[in-house]
Amino acid sequence: MTTSTAAELIARSHRLGSDPKNTNYAGGNTSAKGTETDPVTGEPVELLWVKGSGGDLGTLREPGLAVLRLDRMRALVDVYPGVDREDEMVAAFDYCLHGKGGAAPSIDTAMHGLVDAAHVDHLHPDSGIAIATAADGEALTATIFGDEVVWVPWRRPGFQLGLDIAEIKEKNPQAVGCILGGHGITAWGDTSEEAEARSLWIIDTAAAHIAEHSRPEPFGPALEGYAALPEEERRAKAAALGATIRGIASQDRPMVGHFTDSEVVLDFLARSEHPRLAALGTSCPDHFLRTKVKPLVLDLPASASVEDSVARLRELAVSYREDYQAYYDRHATPDSPAIRGADPLVVLVPGVGMFSYGKDKQTARVAGEFYTNAINVMRGAEGLSTYAPIDESEKFRIEYWALEEAKLQRMPAPKPLATRIAVVTGAAGGIGKATAKRLVAEGACVVVADLSLEKAQAAAAEIGGPDVAVGVAADVSDEAAVQAMVDAAVLAFGGVDLVVNNAGLSLSKSLLETTEADWDLQHNVMAKGSFLVSKAAARVLIDQGMGGDVIYISSKNSVFAGPHNIAYSATKADQAHQVRLLAAELGEHGVKVNGVNPDGVVAGSGIFASGWGANRAAVYGVEEKDLGKFYAQRTILKREVLPEHIANAVFVLCGPDLTHTTGLHVPVDAGVSAAFLR
Ligand SMILES: NC(=O)c1ccc[n+]([C@@H]2O[C@H](COP(=O)([O-])OP(=O)(O)OC[C@H]3O[C@@H](n4cnc5c(N)ncnc54)[C@H](O)[C@@H]3O)[C@@H](O)[C@H]2O)c1
Ligand SMILES: [Zn+2]
Repeated sequence: MTTSTAAELIARSHRLGSDPKNTNYAGGNTSAKGTETDPVTGEPVELLWVKGSGGDLGTLREPGLAVLRLDRMRALVDVYPGVDREDEMVAAFDYCLHGKGGAAPSIDTAMHGLVDAAHVDHLHPDSGIAIATAADGEALTATIFGDEVVWVPWRRPGFQLGLDIAEIKEKNPQAVGCILGGHGITAWGDTSEEAEARSLWIIDTAAAHIAEHSRPEPFGPALEGYAALPEEERRAKAAALGATIRGIASQDRPMVGHFTDSEVVLDFLARSEHPRLAALGTSCPDHFLRTKVKPLVLDLPASASVEDSVARLRELAVSYREDYQAYYDRHATPDSPAIRGADPLVVLVPGVGMFSYGKDKQTARVAGEFYTNAINVMRGAEGLSTYAPIDESEKFRIEYWALEEAKLQRMPAPKPLATRIAVVTGAAGGIGKATAKRLVAEGACVVVADLSLEKAQAAAAEIGGPDVAVGVAADVSDEAAVQAMVDAAVLAFGGVDLVVNNAGLSLSKSLLETTEADWDLQHNVMAKGSFLVSKAAARVLIDQGMGGDVIYISSKNSVFAGPHNIAYSATKADQAHQVRLLAAELGEHGVKVNGVNPDGVVAGSGIFASGWGANRAAVYGVEEKDLGKFYAQRTILKREVLPEHIANAVFVLCGPDLTHTTGLHVPVDAGVSAAFLR
């Protein structure tokens, strides 16, 4: 049951969390204290509701709140063993839970419980962190807020920080909150409205002070040659570089990418101070796991050619990895978790934008958002003073914190196709849509391509949101359209790992009836179309250096000879031989090429719905609706073949088990002996 205290807290959290000026994604936490009746004793009991570990304020729901007994939580002060062992207190929170306790209590629970105020907000606003990371943050806090907001020197989040803030509140009864050095803000109030109003006042007052007092060009003067390229050129260069950069970011483990070319990013990269500031790295504790301590920055102007940029990026990737390993070695102790990989998670390219990476699209996008927050913070801090993030050793302590490591270890195992980016052609319906759906269910991100943008987008929306599926228009017989489709995959998800050549159509005509135009259409869409798609995708697969799969949906008709099928079956045979040719050619890049030979897939197939089915039904003297069952009776297994059965074969071919198979065709036809492969 939602209590009024919890409901009020959730509403406040939504208001604060939905505005990015107030806090970063999943950053910060809010709490409320109140009295309920203890169901065991019937007596009143004081409780603390606080946002639990993980989750985002903007979308917080009741199960995201931890509920603790305030008396027990506060009693922890008496057993607190000191700052060296403060991490042990997180496990102790579990002994303070009320009822089932809701979400797991976060490290910030102490701050919320120990501060003597009914309502507490802890937030990570860009404006507040700008003050918190200014070299003279303490003096600035006094100048901006007088004695109403108190400076708290940097301390890693935990029990001791909670004790510090509680003491500050007690010693400064006039104060409404504090600036936490290197980190964020905390505000409190007797009512929910008061806490919220004070949070907003601190955030807006800091922002107004920066706006009024900032020096004119906080990132320095514009650098000659580093201005943003015009949009079209910028996107084309991003697409041309994307595969190489994803490969660089995926040397330790494969990553999904996100591309941002916002004004904030482009302006930062266009100015003289960006190399110095980027090297200083981020500061807010949320950032290190998501963005690493610092980004990789390409040190070439916007006009640099793709070739020169690729060559330089590859050099910089080597030094980035060496630097990161050295950073780990400088700070790791025998108890530190193992290094989590030395690849950059954020790569900045002047004139073009920011590439950010993560284990899935959402994580990659949030890494980009976090770095945008970092740029805003640096602009504010440099405008008033000098940006001075926390020490490298403290960054390391947070990045390799045992509690964070434990959280990572608790994550569920990734799905078999996690991080893989698929392009499925002709995927608005039939076999293509079923395949796209299956790939997404197994963890892949999918570009759904088809002739009609509207239908491709509708299929993508049905399969999942933009973090897993995007729809694009692409006629596979048009080389420029195919390149645009592959570029769209690179810009949407970072690259391509898996191509399904599925687009097709079927005209059933005798040799004498088949026109030149019929022949050309069939061959343009299937033989030429899959050639063009394989070629454009292979460029990306090779640049990435991450292996990959190309799968052709050819047909039983690629080997079976029957009347009235010259154009369709000939082009299917062409596709089938492309499988073998490309398997032989792309193997050196770790790319497997395989095919599926379906037959008699009536349900859901546009080919059958658009006349071919009626024609076949008439030929066989059955009703069109019974055609699937009719075909089933002709098979050895007497089973009807559905689009999902083709999708199953695609998954097996690109999934975790068939790692050593290339150049294979898998019949999915319920058994047709005339089409047996030998
Ligand atoms: N249905 C079967 O029994 C069967 C049997 C063997 C092979 N196949 C093959 O499976 C594939 C999918 O067939 P389906 O049965 O799902 O048919 P379908 O008509 O439902 O799907 C084919 C899709 O390809 C798209 N398409 C057509 N021309 C295109 C072009 N130039 N560029 C991009 N997209 C284009 C169509 O819009 C359609 O969405 C085809 O290659 C087909 O030859 C199907
Ligand atoms: Zn925080």
